Amino acid sequence: MSTYMPFSDDFLEELSRRNDIVDVVSSYVPLTKRSGVNQFGLCPFHGEKTPSFAVNGEKQIYHCFGCGKGGSVINFIMEIENLSFPDAVRFLAKRAGMEVPEDDHDPGRGKRTRMLELNRDAARFFHAQLMADTGRAGQDYVARRGIVNMVKPFGLGLAPDSWQSLADAMTRKGYSRQELLDAGLARVGKNGGLYDYFRNRLMFPVIDVRGSVIGFSGRILGDGEPKYLNSPDTLVYSKSRSLFALNLAKKSKSGYILLAEGNIDVVSLHQAGFDSAVASLGTSLTPDQARLMSRYTSQVVIAYDNDAAGQKAAQRAIGILQPLDLKIKVVQIPGAKDPDEFIQANGPQAFRDLLERSGNQVEYRLEKTAAEFDLATDAGRVGYLKASAKLIASLPGSVEREIYGLRAAEKAGVSRDAFLGEVARIRRQNASAARKQRDKDASAPLRAAQPASRELRYENVRSAVAEEGVLNLLCRFPEQFGALPLTGADFTSPALGGLYDAVAQRVRHGRSVSLAALGQQFSQDELTLLADILQRDEIPPEAARQAMDDYISKIRAEKDKASRADDLREYAEKLKRTKGYGYKDG
Ligand code: UTP
Ligand code: MN
Repeated sequence: MSTYMPFSDDFLEELSRRNDIVDVVSSYVPLTKRSGVNQFGLCPFHGEKTPSFAVNGEKQIYHCFGCGKGGSVINFIMEIENLSFPDAVRFLAKRAGMEVPEDDHDPGRGKRTRMLELNRDAARFFHAQLMADTGRAGQDYVARRGIVNMVKPFGLGLAPDSWQSLADAMTRKGYSRQELLDAGLARVGKNGGLYDYFRNRLMFPVIDVRGSVIGFSGRILGDGEPKYLNSPDTLVYSKSRSLFALNLAKKSKSGYILLAEGNIDVVSLHQAGFDSAVASLGTSLTPDQARLMSRYTSQVVIAYDNDAAGQKAAQRAIGILQPLDLKIKVVQIPGAKDPDEFIQANGPQAFRDLLERSGNQVEYRLEKTAAEFDLATDAGRVGYLKASAKLIASLPGSVEREIYGLRAAEKAGVSRDAFLGEVARIRRQNASAARKQRDKDASAPLRAAQPASRELRYENVRSAVAEEGVLNLLCRFPEQFGALPLTGADFTSPALGGLYDAVAQRVRHGRSVSLAALGQQFSQDELTLLADILQRDEIPPEAARQAMDDYISKIRAEKDKASRADDLREYAEKLKRTKGYGYKDG
């Protein structure tokens, strides 16, 4: 176990990002059936005739409903290739063409690190070129686009109108020809010499959430083809897994991410005060990019171009975002091609108004509901009142309920208070039904909940269900929970308690709680158990806090019962002893 240095979380995350579990598993097991987010195939770990082996691409886990095996992509490789954890990591690294950060004593240093250094030096070079006296063309362009203040925060730069200025500068800094080629910064010319890939362009460094420059986009100054050039995918850059400006947007306090199409849109939005804007990098939104966003926000506002292509792309993006429990809004941009043009023409406040009015599913559904009833009649208004109150009761935010409630009340011709009273009544009803269901689930004889491994079996199933619930919520919505009033010692299952302590510590420190990151701390059996627990997603994000409180009370209550039972046993023991001594009370 301890013959290797622990891998960093970042490395393990990157490793699992680059080894999509569906791809990896598919190369061993045909996944022939789909049900929701799960794809099914025949389990490679036990004999079976009907598929009960599920792979969840969204959560990046697998789980067999037959034999109970499960875990992350690393566990899958450990199991199927019969490898230790570090060897499975090396196996997957190789598959994805990644360097293993074996040990820091390596004098040659990782290729990745070198490439990141080169990218950073290149970004500095481009930036210096833009700031220099010779950078007039770039400075004028930036001024014309109205984004002067963003030059610094975005680290914008200028690739000079010359064939070799970057290659020369980087060669002087000690980078080799091969390194420049590998990083996608230079090409080989007809004469065998190097020439710069980016020339006469405004340079946008692509910076990942850790602050590393991983690639570039370059926009031509003025007209010409191609308008944008992008770095090719490299050892450190994958366009489909990166988002432009997420390094800045992740710090925004706005509560949402604004997803635009173009680099200039993003910069222009930031300049106008919308500091949560990002863009996919010349690709249409990918599931990896959507997942990346979901790690930083629970709401995405799509602000794509106002042309047919943009609207179609928005529809596609909605489809990709929807399975991720994200709230989605779409801004329509009237009278302009894209957010940048709109802001240049109408100013930031006008865009803010658009954002506030941005259509969401609630408005749309309320309108549909209204259309179903004849609001000129009493019966129609009552029908509409009931249906719309039900819809509004399902909204997680009280502000939202207030706003839409008011509108619907007016339409239904009743007072705001009467309407919101009805909404509150429905919510109480829903909450009590949900509670009953949870209690029923908790007392039902357990199937999936019992760990597959005999060593990990539960003593107190009622408490274990709540303990699993705590783990499930903490791993799925770490951002909702800080320090919880619980320790692993409160758990009746030592395995769950151990997992909880590790997860809770990570959550407190804002570290990743992915299975990949936890992989090296726990046994295969424990990870199988955790994967099984993570599988479940009955509880939506907006109900997580309430459910967490309920679980904690349950664990407490079971603990109380157990300690009362202990007291009783102790008392009975004492009684036996004293009787044995023949003590008689006068
Ligand atoms: P747009 O053509 O909408 O560009 O392309 P833009 O960002 O609004 O730029 P301006 O306002 O004309 O200056 C949207 C995005 O598509 C990718 C780029 O990422 C761009 O930001 N794209 C576009 C390319 O990758 N290559 C191209 O040749 C054009
Ligand atoms: Mn534009």
